[in-house]
Amino acid sequence: MSLLSIRDLRTEFSGPAGIARAVDGVSFDVEPGEIFGIVGESGCGKSATCRSILHLFGGAPARIAGGEILLEGTGDLARMTERDLSRVRGREVAFIFQDPLTALNPTMRIGKQIAEVIRCHRKVSKAEARAAALELLREVQVTSPERRLDAYPHELSGGLRQRVVIAMALALRPRLIIADEPTTALDVTVQDQILRLLRERRDSTGTSIILVTHDLGVVSQICDRMAVMYAGRVVETGSVRQVLDTPLHPYTRALLAALPGQTGRERDLTPIEGSPPGLISPPPGCRFAPRCRFARPECAVGQPPALHPRGETAHLDACILTEVPDVLA
Ligand SMILES: Nc1ncnc2c1ncn2[C@@H]1O[C@H](COP(=O)(O)OP(=O)(O)OP(=O)(O)O)[C@@H](O)[C@H]1O
Ligand SMILES: [Mg+2]
Repeated sequence: MSLLSIRDLRTEFSGPAGIARAVDGVSFDVEPGEIFGIVGESGCGKSATCRSILHLFGGAPARIAGGEILLEGTGDLARMTERDLSRVRGREVAFIFQDPLTALNPTMRIGKQIAEVIRCHRKVSKAEARAAALELLREVQVTSPERRLDAYPHELSGGLRQRVVIAMALALRPRLIIADEPTTALDVTVQDQILRLLRERRDSTGTSIILVTHDLGVVSQICDRMAVMYAGRVVETGSVRQVLDTPLHPYTRALLAALPGQTGRERDLTPIEGSPPGLISPPPGCRFAPRCRFARPECAVGQPPALHPRGETAHLDACILTEVPDVLA
């Protein structure tokens, strides 16, 4: 059984211009011990999907309007009360945000912040929690951990702060870590170190990780399976090799063709023309149809097909066309 099964999830944000269906029928599974990547253009609902899992909307006017978020052995998180969710957060599922500064309290020493995560959920003495915090800093390879325990967040570099956030996420040994663009605020070498750290944790503890990123290179490096999102929906999912080596959906193909460095030359970049639709009143039919060079009249009508297998059963996509010409973009 999967560790996490998301089924037909729908999440809405209400605003003055209407209701944005940021997540509109998303389904995917995360298996024990796997790193699952979610990619897609800005605004396609990656964060909204992740935030829905623990109902962490940061005060935004969001609600889960339907679907299921089944955590193995725990139940449907979509329907859980705030009180029950508070027992799942951190302990079973932990969240790593993009900007470590928003996750840390600027006025509290980091040793105390990590210790408080532990003391919130476990009955341990202050000294034991501090010792555990020190051990966690070692685990995330913070140098001179004894000294860092008494530092304030602003005294640390961005990379160190993100390590502290990861230490907090690991503190209660969760079964699933959701990392929403954990490295975009960091420079490239530090990005590499943080991603390696996450992969090592998965290797040593079997924790599953959902990793949201804009970077297909990162997905190819550390993810096992992945989903490609477009305008609130998953358009393709499968193993990283299946999706990146033999992309099925025209959007995935366009995304890959838009990658710089495919042939090592910047001028070979083929950007995807146009922009994604608004999510308040998206076009009928396939939402990618207005930008798709393979679109036919029927693509813009009715509901697009649900994710379905094509050839290999674990590789699914949501395109109406049975044959997409075998050229990129
Ligand atoms: N705080 C908010 N208030 C209102 N609408 C929101 C809010 N946050 C997100 N949305 C809506 O949800 C949609 C999806 O946003 P989301 O943050 O999930 O995108 P994303 O894929 O994570 O993008 P990015 O790559 O830029 O992080 C947005 O296009 C917008 O319509
Ligand atoms: Mg986001």
